[in-house]
Amino acid sequence: MANVKRIAVLTSGGDAAGMNAAIRAVVRTGLHKGWEIFGFRNGYAGLAGMKWCRLTPAAWGTSSSSAERCSERRATWISKIEPGRRIALDVLEHHQIEALVVIGGNGSQTGANALSLMGYPVVGISSTIDNDLYGADITIGVDTALDVALEAIDRLKTTASSHHRAFIVEVMGRDCGYLALMSGIAGGAEVTVIPEVPVDPEDIAVQIRAAYARGKAHAIIVVAEGANYNAAKLMEFFDKHQERLGFEVRATTLGHVQRGGSPGAFDRLLASRLGAAATDAIDRKEYGVMVGLQGKRNHGDTTCGCRFPTRKNWT
Ligand code: F6P
Repeated sequence: MANVKRIAVLTSGGDAAGMNAAIRAVVRTGLHKGWEIFGFRNGYAGLAGMKWCRLTPAAWGTSSSSAERCSERRATWISKIEPGRRIALDVLEHHQIEALVVIGGNGSQTGANALSLMGYPVVGISSTIDNDLYGADITIGVDTALDVALEAIDRLKTTASSHHRAFIVEVMGRDCGYLALMSGIAGGAEVTVIPEVPVDPEDIAVQIRAAYARGKAHAIIVVAEGANYNAAKLMEFFDKHQERLGFEVRATTLGHVQRGGSPGAFDRLLASRLGAAATDAIDRKEYGVMVGLQGKRNHGDTTCGCRFPTRKNWT
């Protein structure tokens, strides 16, 4: 292939704060290299449906909505269905797109890998609040999601103290307990419950009673949504046994509040670095990789990129 002239970018799967900064970086660095940049709306479905537009210095990210945060949950559609992949490749060829940048998490990178295995030039950018991508120490969106969880924990502590209550705070993470674990540690939780480690609610009750016995005015239990006892199940248990256990519990589910909103400085900078690293990888014709932060380096600085990843196990 001659030197690259036209590339496209898309985001897919769950949104994460900082994705738009990654799009911006791809556009800015791509334009700087003299390329034309296009964006597909609505992730892979938009790619197959030819929902695209040109990204210019004046229009990217949310303003262009070309590849904006996408609620599309069919990110694995392309990776699982051969005709879907073929359609995607036809569209890319039809528009003479020479390389594709895919910003997203597990499902998105699985789709990217599938296209790459069919011989198409793809570079992934690691972005998910779950932080469960192999090869990336921290993905775009995690830091902001943690800040949201911590703000909630801090606020709930005040209320919990004034009523001598225990509070369950449910954070996102269907399969991965990273967000719960880190917000539990940073927020000083008495107990943290993650999907990777099944718990017995009686053991949680012991920890909470011990906290009260140490003189604490409140107790915080951080639980991941995918834990064997999530907030709803724990509430059911604590309500049923409140008299015997001797303390009162309330639950707050943060849910999607952790995903959107304004990214913090860390996520913006990480996204900017990874966006630039992605176009540098394309420049070097280094395809079939996902760029991500490893230690303080990213793939653009070194050769520490990874092949398209599988889910990372934090236990
Ligand atoms: O993968 C990101 C994530 O926010 C997970 O933490 C969560 O389990 C899932 O997406 C929720 O998906 P949806 O937005 O489809 O409810």
